[in-house]
Amino acid sequence: AIAPSAVGSMGAAPMATFATSAGSPRRKVAVLGAGGGIGQPLSLLLKLNSQVSQLALYDIAGTPGVAADVGHCNTKAQCKGYEQDKLAEAVRGCDLVIVPAGVPRKPGMTRDDLFKVNAGIVKGLVEAVGKHAPGAILNIISNPVNSTVPITAECLKAMGVYDKRKVMGVTTLDVVRAKTFYAEMKGLDVANVDVPVIGGHAGATILPLFSQATPKVPLSQEELEGLTKRTQDGGTEVVQAKAGKGSATLSMAYAAALFADSVLRGLNGTPTMEYTYVDSNVTEAPYFASKVKLSTEGVEKVFGLEGMTDYEKEGLKTMMPELMKSINAGIDFAKEAS
Ligand code: NAD
Ligand code: LMR
Repeated sequence: AIAPSAVGSMGAAPMATFATSAGSPRRKVAVLGAGGGIGQPLSLLLKLNSQVSQLALYDIAGTPGVAADVGHCNTKAQCKGYEQDKLAEAVRGCDLVIVPAGVPRKPGMTRDDLFKVNAGIVKGLVEAVGKHAPGAILNIISNPVNSTVPITAECLKAMGVYDKRKVMGVTTLDVVRAKTFYAEMKGLDVANVDVPVIGGHAGATILPLFSQATPKVPLSQEELEGLTKRTQDGGTEVVQAKAGKGSATLSMAYAAALFADSVLRGLNGTPTMEYTYVDSNVTEAPYFASKVKLSTEGVEKVFGLEGMTDYEKEGLKTMMPELMKSINAGIDFAKEAS
């Protein structure tokens, strides 16, 4: 079978390259929250990825329909819908479990306002993964990512199955946005643009490093501040434009599919580089997004921060209290609930 294959988000090409699936290992991927705004297009994009041989689509309801629909695409992955109490079956044997389950923001809300509902949802799902698919890599999309990743880690620690190489908060959308906004402002071909984005995934904790963007183009202080703010507020821009009908879903599905493709490439023996929010000792924050090398066991190496400008160092200092507060809220929640 010939299937469209996503390319890594550090790479520049859009999802239009075609690769044969011949010879790639069998990989089972589950999407938890597959009936939602992100879950549906993400499931479609994963069905187009020639590295996926089995696609398990889980939600509390509606996934048989999504699976029947997506399953008619003539690509390799076998697609099955699971709902309600079929979570164990959905995740069993998975190499990768992607979690976009939970409520999205409405105008006026912060990502932290989602904590009350989403913390419990993520905990329940992660516990099932810890029990039925303890070796799987987890890609956490559900907000607030700054807290849901610590919740994930703490739950798995309590179960005795935590492997820090296997838990990743998906911050690829911040990279995707930074690339798009930089290319647009400077009239660059976005296919050749890279922008590192570090920190976390909410407001000031999102820190794009435009001083290290490539190709390097001079930015005035005003342009730099405008690009930084637009990247930090990218999610809010979409929430406001959708005016009560949710947050980013399509660009998020695209970003998650790029990230999943990189994770799978790493698992399949071709290491990739990504920015993602992981267990970290790069700063005083125990979870932090920076460049990582993804390989056969997940995160092989977390790279430190280098060559930051004074403006970026100031951004790093500014984000820390907010990031630490969200991390601690996640850790406390998981400990209290266990
Ligand atoms: P949505 O409401 O459209 O879909 C969420 C889905 O989760 C629904 O289908 C719902 O039934 C399902 N769900 C709820 N509880 C569940 C459970 N216990 N098990 C399985 N499924 C369950 O929302 P959306 O727009 O898809 O957004 C989902 C989440 O992703 C939100 O928290 C949002 O803030 C977050 N998000 C993160 C990023 C990021 O960059 N990391 C980007 C966009 C959105
Ligand atoms: C985003 O960055 O688009 C997501 O985190 C959703 C949101 O609430 O902004």
